[in-house]
Amino acid sequence: MMALGLKPGDEVITTNFTFIATVEVVELLGLRLVLIEPDSNTFNISVEAIKKAITPRTKAIVPVHLFGQCADMEPIMEIARQHGLHVIEDVAQATGADYRFSDGKEKKAGTMGIIGCTSFFPSKNLGCYGDGGALFTDNDDLAALIRSITNHGMKVRYYHDTIGVNSRLDTIQAAVLRVKLRHLDAFNEARQQAAAHYDRELSGLKGMTIPFRAANSTHIFHQYTLRVTDGNRNRLREYLENEGIPSMVYYPVPLHMQKAYSHLGYGTDDFPVTTELTNQVLSLPMHTELDNEQLEYITGCIRSQFK
Ligand SMILES: Cc1ncc(COP(=O)(O)O)c(C=O)c1O
Repeated sequence: MMALGLKPGDEVITTNFTFIATVEVVELLGLRLVLIEPDSNTFNISVEAIKKAITPRTKAIVPVHLFGQCADMEPIMEIARQHGLHVIEDVAQATGADYRFSDGKEKKAGTMGIIGCTSFFPSKNLGCYGDGGALFTDNDDLAALIRSITNHGMKVRYYHDTIGVNSRLDTIQAAVLRVKLRHLDAFNEARQQAAAHYDRELSGLKGMTIPFRAANSTHIFHQYTLRVTDGNRNRLREYLENEGIPSMVYYPVPLHMQKAYSHLGYGTDDFPVTTELTNQVLSLPMHTELDNEQLEYITGCIRSQFK
């Protein structure tokens, strides 16, 4: 957003159903954060809600490819084109996912908007051994500017043409990622196999919905997130914990209810879809090393609660 020259007062539209990191920079730069609802099936930013949120001050849309599945990028890119807006993709949870356009062409998550942003936090599909991240762009001038911003605004050492930050990727992390990148597709396939096992065992249970598979995106299952629709989400979570199975609610407090963001002035009832998802979602263990025995144990425990 610094590289794109966004200025205080410019509006940035993003989904209310995401991790806080998506929106922090909007606030840090004094931009105006416009939160909108996700789609209740895919959990990703609602295209209809984007259309309604655009004003003459809108400058950017930030779709987040939540839990490993791409937001609906074709209509989002079209809306952006019509209104002259930047699209900045948050790819932190979907590195390696593919989006298919209606003409059959496929693109990787993070390569459709003007900039894609990812995270290499160790739990991510492509994780390093500490903290790290990267931006993707195919615009050379923008890439050079971003490189300088991440290094205190320098292109030539000690000559600061731009206001920058220290956001360099540690060499040790780059070395880890250089090796792990070769295995990314295999890592994602291992997650997909675990997800297929969950799907098989958990589909059709009354009071529970398995993750929705969008027709135009692969799902690389950063998270395998159920919806527990019978009001028993917290009870199920407690039961699983007692059986030694970790689960997690992403995210327990939606952005519009976060203390640090209360100045935005949103009310409790402003986001019914987000609120419903917040009350229903439950993410099961998901990583590359889940074996059949573990998956059977987890799904067996869950099935015993949903007869
Ligand atoms: C959707 C989303 N965006 C952004 C981030 C930010 O990642 P980091 O903590 O590496 O800045 C994360 C990771 O936690 C995330 O899940």
